Amino acid sequence: MRIYRSKRFLQAYLKRLPLENKVGFVPTMGALHDGHLSLVKNAKNSCNTVVASIFVNPTQFDRKEDLDQYPSTLEADLKALQKAGCDVVFIPTVKEMYQNQIVSEDFDFDGLDQVMEGAHRKGHFAGVGTIVKRLFEIVKPHEAFFGEKDFQQLQIIKKMVDKEQIPIKIIGNPIYREADGLAMSSRNVRLTPAQRKAAPFIYQTLLKAQKLFKLHDIEEVEGFVVQSFKAQKLLELEYFSMADETTLLPINKKEKNKKYRGFIAVFAGPVRLIDNIELNF
Ligand code: PAF
Repeated sequence: MRIYRSKRFLQAYLKRLPLENKVGFVPTMGALHDGHLSLVKNAKNSCNTVVASIFVNPTQFDRKEDLDQYPSTLEADLKALQKAGCDVVFIPTVKEMYQNQIVSEDFDFDGLDQVMEGAHRKGHFAGVGTIVKRLFEIVKPHEAFFGEKDFQQLQIIKKMVDKEQIPIKIIGNPIYREADGLAMSSRNVRLTPAQRKAAPFIYQTLLKAQKLFKLHDIEEVEGFVVQSFKAQKLLELEYFSMADETTLLPINKKEKNKKYRGFIAVFAGPVRLIDNIELNF
């Protein structure tokens, strides 16, 4: 596995690959778990060369504490990437990606960034768009792989690629969960043992909401979720939204041929956890 810290050297290497070589890309912020590694494995199944990046992107964090506390496990990450079949890892510095201007570009995501994560984390998706676009410009992959845990991010990246006519196929992969249902996240290692024990309640509640959605009004499902979290001492509900998968807008009235998802964000102490679930399938 090749490791590059400079975009110039990475690009020089990628340019030498045969033209028919299909390149798959898995952007990450490190602290890798099995969910990330499944993206690498899927990329390996469909592409000849898999490039992963490890870069904790400062412009997508709205809380300095979250950025400062973001876990870093580089040595273990590199071992795991190699084992999963990754061919090339790009680990740039902030200077390499932003020079001296650590700011986001402006994007028009047709409102996809105005709800849920976008509404609660100011500037988050402009930061994600900025870094993903820059990484795409450097790696120029044929396909790029993202987890559905960040479903809103996935839709926003699809929108960006579409609007800016970037010739990359964006592939979403299902959420990877721990045995007790907690969605895998790099942030999980920051949970105290008690918070970790409480956290599977998030997915359990989503499963119940999924069941209720079939027979009950939207308000009733929402009321159930809000009420359920009131009894939780270690988990604080930030939002629960039932939304159209494509527009991400909250559902007003259930319509037949539309796909809906429930999206949730919860604080366990200072650690913010998100998850989502299909509501009609
Ligand atoms: O999902 C992530 O880990 C990040 O948002 C990404 C896509 C690597 C951009 O920094």
